[in-house]
Amino acid sequence: MSSKRDVPKKMGKSEERKEVVRTRFAPAAGHFAARAREQAPRISERVARLLAPLRGDERALDAGTGAGALALGLAPLVGEVVGCDIVSELLAAARKLAADLPNVSFVAGDIFALPFETGSFDIVGTIRTLHHLERPEKAIPELMRVTRPNGRLLVIDQLAPLDPPRAMEIDRFERARDPSHARTLSDQDMRGLFEMNGLTLLRQEVVSELRNVEDFLDGAGCEGEERERVKRLAPGETFEVEVGWYVLQLRV
Ligand SMILES: C[S@@+](CC[C@H](N)C(=O)[O-])C[C@H]1O[C@@H](n2cnc3c(N)ncnc32)[C@H](O)[C@@H]1O
Repeated sequence: MSSKRDVPKKMGKSEERKEVVRTRFAPAAGHFAARAREQAPRISERVARLLAPLRGDERALDAGTGAGALALGLAPLVGEVVGCDIVSELLAAARKLAADLPNVSFVAGDIFALPFETGSFDIVGTIRTLHHLERPEKAIPELMRVTRPNGRLLVIDQLAPLDPPRAMEIDRFERARDPSHARTLSDQDMRGLFEMNGLTLLRQEVVSELRNVEDFLDGAGCEGEERERVKRLAPGETFEVEVGWYVLQLRV
């Protein structure tokens, strides 16, 4: 006879959302590891320029680290880097990549409830993560909470076009290829979010990146008929996206 305790508990909305993210990213850990290894040196160069001057003894966080692209880029620039994510397969891939880096570690952690003390980092970064969050406006205050007074936030993500129909078209394509995609924010949305939270924008760069649809679909593990359907929604065989790099200060 079954008791009440055998009845599976209904998942809350945020747990359901995390499951969508895990289902999407766990099988792609190898792809993200290869990308993190390849991109870390370029990320490092840009971050060094954007965050200059650095003392070299800072403690930094990469929230939504995936296989550690930003964490690996920060490692040669600061004293210590912690990467956190909710997908254990990605964290395992990140640990392998950072095996020879004694100042880098990875822990399980949700960007909405970070497992760190208030004010425990000098630099708090997140790259290519906000567009996967249904409520990015709730992540920013949590990233700020773990930043020390006068510390800096580094927010990096693809930007939506300012034209609303075009932005909707891009989001439709993104969601078709990747069910964990929520919404791409525009530069205006980003700035609104920062202003609303009292963050001071210190530096900003917008960088154009060329995306190849086939590579993009490989990364999402999109195959067969589904792949053909998504390709029909793509803006072209290759398409340009703008990526915003924002450095913000938490003034107190
Ligand atoms: C497109 S990937 C980017 C990964 C990595 N930052 C990079 O640029 O290679 C998005 C990442 O956001 C993570 N993510 C999504 N929701 C999250 C949450 N609530 N807390 C922490 N990480 C989350 C995913 O697990 C995934 O690693």
